[in-house]
Amino acid sequence: MCEFVLRTVSEGGKVVSDEKKHRVSRRQFLTYTLTGVGGFMAAGMISPMVRMALDPALGATGESDFVSVGITEDQLTDEPQLVNFQVEVDDAWYQSEQAQTAWIYKDGDEIIALSPTCTHLGCTVNWDANENYPEQFYCPCHDGRFERDGTNIPGTPPTRPLDIYEVEVRDGAIYLGQIIQRNA
Ligand code: FES
Repeated sequence: MCEFVLRTVSEGGKVVSDEKKHRVSRRQFLTYTLTGVGGFMAAGMISPMVRMALDPALGATGESDFVSVGITEDQLTDEPQLVNFQVEVDDAWYQSEQAQTAWIYKDGDEIIALSPTCTHLGCTVNWDANENYPEQFYCPCHDGRFERDGTNIPGTPPTRPLDIYEVEVRDGAIYLGQIIQRNA
């Protein structure tokens, strides 16, 4: 038990009165302390969730912005080429760089950027990699296959097309944005 006493002393040094102002038991002290610490920790955990709920575009990866992938439009042909690039990932308390990859090519005036992640079970597809299936994206894990535009080939394990990136051209340079999931 903690006890605070207000003691009034006269000019002559004589104690005139003792006044008990406030009592706090050990149990109350621990309750107040733990409640305060618990509340602080809960606020730290909940605030990022609230932020994500209010603005899903911010997401865990912070991928709402387009990023330069280091090539220009005039370097592209109708042959898909594998491009590696980095995106900045904003987590609640820190930033980091995440490596990403895209198969990019030109289809007439349009620029196509496909995710290399197989939509069956997530292995990596390669372009024109199996001599039995030329001019197709091929997944070595279970013989999954996709057309040049990413459409899954019926009779192979994947049941939907490859995901596709948003593409922008700025001053001739290629920028990629969000990955968009396409349905069968
Ligand atoms: S993971 Fe690609 S076919 Fe199964």
